[in-house]
Amino acid sequence: MDTATLRHDFPALDRTVYGKPLIYLDNTATSQTPACVVEAIEHAYYNTKANVHRGVHALSQEMTLLQEAARERVRSLINAAATSEIVFTRGTTEAINLVASSYGRLIPDGAEIIVSVMEHHANIVPWQLIGRGITLKVIPMDDRGVLDLDAYRSLFSNKTALVAVTHVSNVLGTVNPVEEITREAHIHGVPVLIDGAQAVSHRPVDVRAIGCDFYAFSAHKMYGPTGVGVLYGRREMLEKMPPYQGGGEMIGHVTFQHTTFADLPFKFEAGTPDFVGIAAFHRAIDYVASVGYDNIEQHERRLLEYATQRMTAEIPGLRIFGTAPGKDAIISFLIGDSHPYDVGMLLDKQGVAVRTGHHCAQPLMQRLGVEGVVRASFALYNTLDEVDAFIAALRRTASMLQ
Ligand SMILES: Cc1ncc(COP(=O)(O)O)c(C=O)c1O
Repeated sequence: MDTATLRHDFPALDRTVYGKPLIYLDNTATSQTPACVVEAIEHAYYNTKANVHRGVHALSQEMTLLQEAARERVRSLINAAATSEIVFTRGTTEAINLVASSYGRLIPDGAEIIVSVMEHHANIVPWQLIGRGITLKVIPMDDRGVLDLDAYRSLFSNKTALVAVTHVSNVLGTVNPVEEITREAHIHGVPVLIDGAQAVSHRPVDVRAIGCDFYAFSAHKMYGPTGVGVLYGRREMLEKMPPYQGGGEMIGHVTFQHTTFADLPFKFEAGTPDFVGIAAFHRAIDYVASVGYDNIEQHERRLLEYATQRMTAEIPGLRIFGTAPGKDAIISFLIGDSHPYDVGMLLDKQGVAVRTGHHCAQPLMQRLGVEGVVRASFALYNTLDEVDAFIAALRRTASMLQ
């Protein structure tokens, strides 16, 4: 993998901040976008912008074909059985809220939902919003950030209605054994939702191999546009679920007395979708495929190992949160008792973009016994030279704060 050449695909990486070359290590929050994706957006706005599934005219048909080709591309990306199982949403958050609002209506009052201690708020709060006495049961983890699967097995009861866990932790980088988690849930007849927001840009995902009932992710974390996400839902699940929002596109026939609904997946896609973004997401998926997941995984592992080893050796008072075997290239850390915000600010002034705070995972912060952490997260375009510059900036930061 030729990272130096590949970086030219990402114009944002050439910019400077405060006169320093940008070193973008906030990829977990969102990745940068390759020119081909921006060009796909531009092309659609200049040439094919017309509302989808509504027109007999040429532009509408072209745009519809582009959107539906993207749906097929997403299907093949995650090996879903059919495009009818691919629902476009605004992002992972909306995908999970869709399941909570819709599937949530099918589960009884007082039901239990199993989540893990490392969930993003997007996989906690939507379940709480169902109300009706529904409670969360939490899978604990050890100090490395590995989920305790024995404890998980003991959480099932006759009230368990769903298991909802993250594939990859956005703080710890832990890659959870989602196949095993799903298998166990299915033994109990309980469906499983996987939050794949941090997985799809780094590793191949096969929803049928995992066996999960739902899988949610966002385009913008996968080199794609903002405002587009995906909910994969197994057909039998989606079929029995009521619509999430009402409006155009999702209907079969409407009278003032009664409405029938469109077939899958359109039953869950009320209103005008972000068809331009969806078409551009197709290009992002092709881009990732052209680089290749093997190359991406290998490259990011090298960055992770090199950065971890140098940080540990050279930064006094460093604490890393998340040391699970096989973790993804996400390093959350603190330096002595320095406030994460101060570390982030000082790094920023040196051109290094990291994220600080609770990372939308306050229950996890509580488990770690901290208010927040600094997080450096890597993508396919980061280089070992950038790690060197990051370490140099971190050393300067540590000495300023001590
Ligand atoms: C694990 C995880 N789940 C869900 C989300 C929410 O994604 P979005 O804001 O794109 O909906 C994120 C975003 O950081 C995440 O890391």
